[in-house]
Amino acid sequence: MPAIRILAAAFGAALQLAAAQSASAAETPLETAVAKGAHLFATATFGGNGRTCESCHEGGGKAPGQVGDRKLPSLLNAAAIYPRFSRGAGQVITLEGQVQSCIKGGLAGTPPELGSSDLVAITAYLGSIAKGQQVEIGGAPK
Ligand code: HEC
Repeated sequence: MPAIRILAAAFGAALQLAAAQSASAAETPLETAVAKGAHLFATATFGGNGRTCESCHEGGGKAPGQVGDRKLPSLLNAAAIYPRFSRGAGQVITLEGQVQSCIKGGLAGTPPELGSSDLVAITAYLGSIAKGQQVEIGGAPK
């Protein structure tokens, strides 16, 4: 019966559409946070000296960076190697703590609070560029 087959095909397509919609609804907030983090990385000065993350960490953090003559490793695996001991801070710090410290130091800005949507977004962005990197707390930057 072709009518039944057509009906079954339409029902199948509707089910697939519903599944696709619920999958994208589940992903959207995370994708939104990652996109916001990428935007902040490139543009936010946090009320400081006009620098952004991109001023020192080039290519969205995926390329090696530079401060003056000092070369910096990329941030490609940063999200995979924290927490780590910071000699500067004299203690073990999280990725969020490192980002706050760059905002205080490098940007001379006011760091967003832990749990704030800005800090979550930057952390989500750093996590997104580290996809597939080996997780190794205390490991070396790439
Ligand atoms: C003025 C230059 C400068 C700016 C601007 C800057 N950073 Fe950094 N960043 C550094 C330096 C230098 C280091 C190396 C660690 C240190 O000395 O604190 C570093 C280290 C890091 C690390 C750790 C890398 C690793 O693998 O250990 C992360 C993550 C990071 N920065 C994120 C950011 C983010 C996000 C921003 C923007 C909010 C930013 N930085 C802005 C200079 C900067």
